[in-house]
Amino acid sequence: MEIIETTARLTEAVADARRRGLTIGLVPTMGALHAGHISLVERARRECDFVIVSIFVNPTQFNNPDDLRTYPRTPAADCDLLRAAGVDVAFTPTAEEIYPEPDTRVFDLGPVAEVMEGAMRPGHFNGVAQIVSKLFALARPHRAYFGEKDFQQIAVIRRMAELEGFDDLEIVDCPICREADGLAMSSRNVRLSAEQRAIAPRIHAILESSVASRAEGVSPADTAAAVLDSLAGVEGFKPEYYQIVDANTLQPLDAWPEGRDAVGCVTVWLGDVRLIDNIKYPAK
Ligand code: PAF
Repeated sequence: MEIIETTARLTEAVADARRRGLTIGLVPTMGALHAGHISLVERARRECDFVIVSIFVNPTQFNNPDDLRTYPRTPAADCDLLRAAGVDVAFTPTAEEIYPEPDTRVFDLGPVAEVMEGAMRPGHFNGVAQIVSKLFALARPHRAYFGEKDFQQIAVIRRMAELEGFDDLEIVDCPICREADGLAMSSRNVRLSAEQRAIAPRIHAILESSVASRAEGVSPADTAAAVLDSLAGVEGFKPEYYQIVDANTLQPLDAWPEGRDAVGCVTVWLGDVRLIDNIKYPAK
């Protein structure tokens, strides 16, 4: 595995791979890698000839300076994991390398970016669009892999790719990886205290127990209200929102969409740790 820190060297390595006719897979990450990331890497390894994993804690997507400061960073362990997973390139640039000048681009991300995380974290998705568009342009992947824990982020990235004309690039969404007790894997989980870690799986349990509502004819609004009530009832949880949205448009639903999946997206604070998760309410 080659560890590349500069955009110039990455451009060279990618041009070489392309010349050799290799299929390039990109897994963008912010490091602090866990089994969820590795499942994306393994899928990229199965489906592509040349796998690039980027590790970059992107400052432009943090609307909260404390969150950026405390975001876990484990570069040496990350590189060990990637080497063991058979990755070709770990791209680990500095902020100066990625943003030699401030990135002032504002993306017209539309309605998918206006709800939920978009409403709660102003500028967050524009920052995601900035970094992912740069990574797409540099790594020129045939396929890029993203985890469905950040369900809304995938929709935003698809919109950015459409706007920027990344037409030949396949965006591959991969299922959420969970711990044995149901907690969605996240780099932020390491910041939970033992007590918080013990209650955190209730998020998934509460969401999952609401899935039957659709078949029972309970409306999306009543389902969401019941989920929020249950979450608020757990001592130590401060739910920020729970919204049931159309899985394609990400817009809130008055009624279950005929023949289409809905997704319930949640954010819960445990102390100063902000966790997100989601669950599908399948059409059938
Ligand atoms: O999901 C993440 O880890 C980040 O938002 C991403 C896609 C790597 C962009 O910084």
